[in-house]
Amino acid sequence: MQTSTPRKVEHQQTDRGYIPVYATGVVEQPWADYSRTDHEVWDTLFKRQRELLPGRACREFLEGVERFGLGDGGIPRFAELNKVLGRATGWELVAVEGLLPDEVFFDHLANRRFPVTWWIRKPEQLDYLSEPDLFHDLFGHVPLLLNPVFADYMQAYGRGGMKAFAIDREALTNLTRLYWYTVEFGLIHTDEGMRIYGAGIVSSKGESIYCLDSPAPNRIGFDLERVMSTRYRIDTYQQTYFVIDSFEQLFEATRPDFTPIYARLKAQPAHAAADVLAGDRVFNRGTREGFAVGGDA
Ligand code: PHE
Ligand code: FE
Repeated sequence: MQTSTPRKVEHQQTDRGYIPVYATGVVEQPWADYSRTDHEVWDTLFKRQRELLPGRACREFLEGVERFGLGDGGIPRFAELNKVLGRATGWELVAVEGLLPDEVFFDHLANRRFPVTWWIRKPEQLDYLSEPDLFHDLFGHVPLLLNPVFADYMQAYGRGGMKAFAIDREALTNLTRLYWYTVEFGLIHTDEGMRIYGAGIVSSKGESIYCLDSPAPNRIGFDLERVMSTRYRIDTYQQTYFVIDSFEQLFEATRPDFTPIYARLKAQPAHAAADVLAGDRVFNRGTREGFAVGGDA
């Protein structure tokens, strides 16, 4: 895989100030510009999840949080985290303004760079905001990058993304569903019980409780093609969670060339987010209580 060095384009006036923007979307983390309120929002969210997640999040995630010292007080400096991360798995955090074009995002992952939105939500958005912010990206995604197997999975995903991007829109849709149901909303079945590893869950107080405690959603064993053909919710908690047995299982299941799989999936209709199918390994068949009707992404 070719490497691309962040290329500095120019300084740009953005909503959030005057910032150097690179072709890769990378900016300097403007650490000195965080307000007292910004640091307090981080501390509040951190404390809330740190208390909630033992016994809910998987061991690898909780270990990562501690190793990074994410709760040392105030918004962490990416440069400091990168010392730990680089030594552990060779990943690097880069600061970005927000969501990137697919191909730019894939290129970062393929080169073991994880883009982290540098700005944090407002105090009135503690429970929900519609786009990823610093808390989601950093607290949610980064701890597991210390795990060697998960770190390799993320890079493989980036490479797979470049490939899917060159195939067609449908291949990309299939691959996006895989990201959604693993990296963002994945559960893992461990010896100690069902645990969370998905970033979209661990960064949300409500969903950290709901995904394990509510009888409403389905919890179904991970199956690659099943996941890639299942639509998902972007506006509510998930109606189905897919459960892996280990990060090794996830890595091995996604190792084969997806090209023939994309071709096969083209011929089949997608499943609704709430569906349970005949071949599913069902951990929990959801009661569907409170489910929104229609509106899957
Ligand atoms: N093996 C996949 C392919 O050939 C790439 C991939 C790996 C995708 C891991 C997602 C996760 O396209
Ligand atoms: Fe995310």
